[in-house]
Amino acid sequence: MEVKNQVSLAEFNSFGLSVNAPLFLEVTSSLALQKVLKDPRFKNALILGGGSNVLLLQNLSRPVIKISIPGIRVVEENEQSAIVSAGAGVVWHDLVMWCIANNLGGIENLSLIPGLVGAAPIQNIGAYGVELKDVFHNAIGIGRKTGDSKIFEAEDCEFGYRDSIFKNELKDKYVITTLRLSLIKSNHKLNLEYGGISQTLDEMGVVAPTLDDVARAVIRIRRKKLPDPSKLGNAGSFFKNPIVLKSKAAKIIKDFPNMPAFTIDENFTKIPAGWLIEKAGFKGKVFGNVGMHKNQALVLVNYGAATGAELWEHAQRVMGAVLSKFDVELEPEVNLIN
Ligand code: FAD
Ligand code: EPU
Repeated sequence: MEVKNQVSLAEFNSFGLSVNAPLFLEVTSSLALQKVLKDPRFKNALILGGGSNVLLLQNLSRPVIKISIPGIRVVEENEQSAIVSAGAGVVWHDLVMWCIANNLGGIENLSLIPGLVGAAPIQNIGAYGVELKDVFHNAIGIGRKTGDSKIFEAEDCEFGYRDSIFKNELKDKYVITTLRLSLIKSNHKLNLEYGGISQTLDEMGVVAPTLDDVARAVIRIRRKKLPDPSKLGNAGSFFKNPIVLKSKAAKIIKDFPNMPAFTIDENFTKIPAGWLIEKAGFKGKVFGNVGMHKNQALVLVNYGAATGAELWEHAQRVMGAVLSKFDVELEPEVNLIN
């Protein structure tokens, strides 16, 4: 374990922001992590996975522990299903590809989500009609104060839309080291309803889709809509899609009958933040080094030389405009790091 001083995090965050960390350590095992958590220099460390859901606002005054715990394996199986265990440092998309190659179904709709396995439960990653919670078996976390490991079952995690206990009550309390998923071995139930998957499969000429076909369709859709962070700094959706009272959604629909809206239950409706931001006039508009992307207004972009403060200033500008036009509060999905 080599502790490095004054490390640039430019390569370690998908916005490509060149901020420094005073100390930086990469850990490749749970044991190494337990050891470093006892080191007083790393008490308030930022735990970093792939850095694809953080906005680093300025040079850090705290150290960084980068999680690089490897390994994917089947730990339990029966005729129908298998439990797959993955180290927190595995690249999420590599896990998806591994599962498909082993004919294990359940996470193919979550193809190409950037980042590492350990961060997946933090915001309960989701896309194209599937969320992590749908396949979650359990996760192992190490207590940052005690160094003890604890198994989190699904009911402990309080998963919600882009939410979990790890963003609330247990924020910064545990480091996830292992994730276990419950996946299906045969008679796959494909989830093709959402977001143009069926249409894309038709375009691809696929008649009887396999897990791999679904993944390829999702990848195709994502590549069309979302900018590649290696070319244009971004962290995916910057805001959550707001869930508002039905009456508020109805008020907006009165003026904008074509607004897309999704019923949550009898009281609440989810509105696409991308639509609100586009209608507030920000889609594709560049403000200095930053802006909301031309194909997806929900994606805040660094055109190359932005600072974290500039990105956050723009995010606040967008939040203010949406609030005054629609009376809807946007909440950042991305984690703001001081
Ligand atoms: P990081 O950015 O490194 O960390 C995120 C947060 O989790 C931080 O607060 C960090 O401290 C904490 N954390 C990280 N690892 C651990 C750990 N092992 N234990 C405890 N805490 C930890 N997300 C979706 O849900 N759906 C999408 O479709 C999607 N599309 C995206 C598209 C693009 C182009 C980009 C750039 C991002 C997208 N995201 C999406 C967001 C992002 O990919 C996910 O949030 C992902 O899970 C972040 O993983 P990471 O390893 O990069 O996390
Ligand atoms: N829309 C617009 N203008 C835009 C963008 C979107 O009008 O500029 C409209 C679309 O026409 C569509 C609706 O908004 O009717 C939803 O758009 P889209 O299907 O692109 O999905 P999203 O709601 O913007 C969410 C997730 C994504 C996830 C996709 C697919 C959130 C915050 N974002 O985006 O996750 O990949 O659905 O499931 O829930 C992420 O979390 O970083 C992320 C990329």
